[in-house]
Amino acid sequence: MKRLLSLASLPLLALSAFGAEKAVITLHPSADAPVIAKEIYGQFTEHLGSCIYGGIWVGEDSQIPNTNGYRNDVLGAIRDLKVPVMRWPGGCFADEYHWQDGIGPKEDRPRMINSNWGGTVEDNSFGTHEFMNLCELLGVEPYISGNVGSGSVEELAKWVEYITAEDGPQARRRKENGREKPWKLKYLGIGNETWGCGGHMTPEYYSDIYRRYATYARNYGGNQLYKIGCGADAYNTNWTDVCMKNAGSMMDGISLHYYCVDDWQNKGLARDFDKDDHYWLMGKAFDIDTLVSNHSEIMDKYDPEKRVGLLVDEWGTWWDSEPGTNPGHLYQQNTMRDALVAALSLNVFNNHADRVRMANIAQFANVLQAMLLTKGDSMVLTPTYYVFKSYIPHQDARLIPLDVDTKVLTVRKGRTVPLVTASASEKDGVTTISMVNISLDEPVEVTIPLEAAGIKGKKVEGSIVTAKDIHDHNDFGQKEKVTMAPFKDAKVKDGKLLVTLPAKSVVTLSI
Ligand code: AHR
Repeated sequence: MKRLLSLASLPLLALSAFGAEKAVITLHPSADAPVIAKEIYGQFTEHLGSCIYGGIWVGEDSQIPNTNGYRNDVLGAIRDLKVPVMRWPGGCFADEYHWQDGIGPKEDRPRMINSNWGGTVEDNSFGTHEFMNLCELLGVEPYISGNVGSGSVEELAKWVEYITAEDGPQARRRKENGREKPWKLKYLGIGNETWGCGGHMTPEYYSDIYRRYATYARNYGGNQLYKIGCGADAYNTNWTDVCMKNAGSMMDGISLHYYCVDDWQNKGLARDFDKDDHYWLMGKAFDIDTLVSNHSEIMDKYDPEKRVGLLVDEWGTWWDSEPGTNPGHLYQQNTMRDALVAALSLNVFNNHADRVRMANIAQFANVLQAMLLTKGDSMVLTPTYYVFKSYIPHQDARLIPLDVDTKVLTVRKGRTVPLVTASASEKDGVTTISMVNISLDEPVEVTIPLEAAGIKGKKVEGSIVTAKDIHDHNDFGQKEKVTMAPFKDAKVKDGKLLVTLPAKSVVTLSI
């Protein structure tokens, strides 16, 4: 039984009057449980602000240390995070992007105005070759989002042919541009937010459009596309219903976008919030659990075997842009509060691994809930980066379903969120459990019966991401305030794992 507490009626500080908070996590290992697709730890890289230009790509002639034009520090960060998949070139940008402008000699590439994002002039110096080569260099799976809004069926069909065909007219162009062998391309998105910036379509109209575009996106040679339909905006389950009914049989995956925003006119700054705002955000982030369940339930109607994946290919926090920056560039700081959102959301995706096959946090560098920020030749790793790093053991590990018995908070707007959330997995005999305590003040004593779950190990190793103050963040020219540190406050006793989660912390333990 979950214990209910209304934050509206009881000040948080009063929690301590009840003694130390306690929670129990019960594990249910099963050989039938799904594997957590590593793609849940995916990234999103859009031509937006300095995500690509300055964040990843500086060009071969830059003074900033680079390899073939990619920043060396950022290459290192991508490798360290074991990024499995990257979505590109947008976002809204994708539906105004014409790929043929981004191939061939750089000096001949036409310029365009990035009208979605601050009216910045795009010189197309980062195009198909630059993206595909980056993925190849790092062993990252590319995910290309095709232009449906302002493109054509022919344009998308030719793009796939250019990238993946061994021979033929598009392969010849590719070879002339210096790339002999085709690349492998698995993930292909057919439009982005076609209910919004991608064309303002109805789901009925888009379903037909999807079928048409998907028909001509061919498999060349041994390449096998995984075709992704544009799915719903957050709570719009009708979109999923109509698209699954009309086009689901031609989809391998359908997307879902979810940003933690209630009031788009007044989002607030990443660094500027009070307790009430903090708990509101935790509740808003945890809504993703209900959303995934609701969309999955609809998908089950048309696809009970769960062949079609639900891909949360944009998610995260979205704050007002940092003062002094171009508001169209969506540059925001990233505090310990964002790290809690990341961990809580990743727990939800892990726990829904039967349907959620990919997730791409928005966005990788310098935009929204980024992994890293860059300024000139400096790079800062964010608290969110460290959460992703600590969750690496879950990539491609078998999910261990679990129950968490913990206090449930009722927060602003009537939302509810558990004080402690968790996810667990097993790989190569190692059990990994990640836990989040969202309380700003209270540690929580957690008991996890291991022996009862058939888990025998006694040796526990762990990491923690936490901060002195929830507002703490990492900034240029300063010592890191939020990082990933070894965690010692856990032990196995009488077949149980006992751990005290400090307030506002993300703890990952391997047994
Ligand atoms: O991530 C920023 C934008 O948010 C994307 O371009 C768009 O798809 C979404 O609305």
